[in-house]
Amino acid sequence: MDYKSPAIIDLPKLTDPRGNLTVVEGHQLLPFDINRVYYLYDVPAGEERGGHSHKQCYEFLIAISGSFDVTLDDGTAKRTVTLNRPYKGLLIVPGIWRTLENFSHGSVCLVIASDHYDEDDYVRNYDEFVALKAREGKQATTV
Ligand code: TYD
Repeated sequence: MDYKSPAIIDLPKLTDPRGNLTVVEGHQLLPFDINRVYYLYDVPAGEERGGHSHKQCYEFLIAISGSFDVTLDDGTAKRTVTLNRPYKGLLIVPGIWRTLENFSHGSVCLVIASDHYDEDDYVRNYDEFVALKAREGKQATTV
């Protein structure tokens, strides 16, 4: 589980006539211990979240309800992933600029993170991000 690039990870779905159940375990499915969980909800139509990268922190995003798009940018190339299933998650490794948009009405984005909140771990300026990636050169993480 040595992830160097963002990846969609299939989660176990325990189908049950009483209602389905999906579980996420740190260091089983995810390549990190879980230190923080937060969620985005009540996102107004047309709003955008994210708009930053992390230096160390891994994040795992799940569309617990509804759907939204995540654009991943390694400073050179971009790709967009739609999350719309509660049993599929997107692992975002450090060094990837992410933007979340096109939230459907009532959607909920669950984020499971490897680290506690630390503003120093963020790169929030896009020009700074691109400059950092250029300095990393060939070792840069790719989308
Ligand atoms: P921000 O990083 O802009 O959210 P997103 O990337 O999901 O759009 O964070 C919004 C505010 O919330 C900002 O002031 C930092 C704060 N915050 C915390 O205090 N703890 C956290 O775990 C997170 C993710 C954000």
